[in-house]
Amino acid sequence: MKLFLAIALLLFLGIASALFFGRDFSETAQSLEYDDEQEGLKEAIVINFSHVAAENTPKGMAARKFAELVEERSAGKIKVNVYSNGSLYNDKNEYEALKSGHVQMIAPATSKMTIHFPSWQILDLPFAFRNVSEVKAMYEGATGEALLGELEEDGLKGMTFWYNGFKQITSNKHPLIMPEDFEQMHFRIMPSPVLKAQFEALGASTSELPFNETYNNLEVDFIDGQENTISNIYTKKLYIEQAHMTISNHGYLGYVVLMNEDFWEQLTDSHQQILTETMEETTAWIERHSIEMNDAYLRQMKRDESIEIHYLTPAEREEWQKAMEAVYRRPSTLTENK
Ligand code: LMR
Repeated sequence: MKLFLAIALLLFLGIASALFFGRDFSETAQSLEYDDEQEGLKEAIVINFSHVAAENTPKGMAARKFAELVEERSAGKIKVNVYSNGSLYNDKNEYEALKSGHVQMIAPATSKMTIHFPSWQILDLPFAFRNVSEVKAMYEGATGEALLGELEEDGLKGMTFWYNGFKQITSNKHPLIMPEDFEQMHFRIMPSPVLKAQFEALGASTSELPFNETYNNLEVDFIDGQENTISNIYTKKLYIEQAHMTISNHGYLGYVVLMNEDFWEQLTDSHQQILTETMEETTAWIERHSIEMNDAYLRQMKRDESIEIHYLTPAEREEWQKAMEAVYRRPSTLTENK
C-alpha cells in the first residue's frame, strides 16, 4: 500500500510539475517574445536605406549620422544600413524597391517625385526661392505638409525634407551668361516637366538621365551641360568634364526622406519615437551643414582651377528670370505626368 501511495504521489508530482513548468515556461516565452524592450530575444530590426549621392555630401553624411544615432539610441536594436552612390538601388528602381519593401528608406531629390506626384513640381519652379529660409518655410509650412500627405496614396511615409543647396549650371561649350547662350545646347535633367520647360524656355533641349549616369554622358559629349548643387558637382567629379560653371542659384535641390508605411506601422511606439526624434535632429543638422559643405566644395573647386566660374550679376539674373517666366505661364506643367 505504502509503495502504491509513493508511486501515486510521484506520478501526481510529475504530472503537476510538468503542467506547472510547461505552462509557466510557455507563458514566459510568449511574453518575452513580445517584449521588444528585451535585448537579444528578437532579431535586430534592419532598415536598409538606399540613396544615389556620394558619402561626403550633405545627404550622404546625414544618412550616416541618422544611422549611427538610431543604432545608439535603440541600444543596437535598430540597425540602419546605408547604401550610398546608388550601390543598392538607383534612380530607376529605388522608388519601386521602397514600395515593394525591398528597402525601407530612400531619400530622392524632390524633383524625382514629380513622376509620381505632379504637384511636387512646385518645388522646381525657377527662381521660386531667394534663400534657404524661404525653402524651409515651404518645407515646414502648409505646402510641405500637403505634399508629404500625398505620399500615403503610394503606401509611403514622408518623414521629412532634407536640404542640399541651390543649383548651379555647368557647360562644356562656353560660359552661360545670357539666356541666348543656352540655345542649341543639350542638358541633363532630373525627371521633372518643370525642369524640361525651364531649359526649353532658354532654347535648349534636355535628356532625363539618372544621376549616376551623368558623368559618363558628359564624358562622351552626349550632353553639353547639367544643373546641380556644388556638392554633387564636386563629389561626382562632374566639374572635370565641364569647362564653365555659372553660379546662378536658379533653383533649389532638396530631398524627401521616405519610409515604407507598412514597415513603419509594424514598429513599436518607442521605436517610432526614436526614429522620429532622430530624424528631426538629423534634419536640423543637414539644414545647418549643407550650406557650409557646398561652400567648402566651391572653395576647393576655385583652388583646383579646373573649371571657370562666373557669378551671375543682378542684371544677368534678371534676364534669366525674364526668359524663364514662360515656365510659370504653362498651365499644363503642374498636372503633367500622372
Ligand atoms: C540628381 O539626380 O542630380 C540628384 O538628385 C542627386 C542627389 O540625390 O543629390
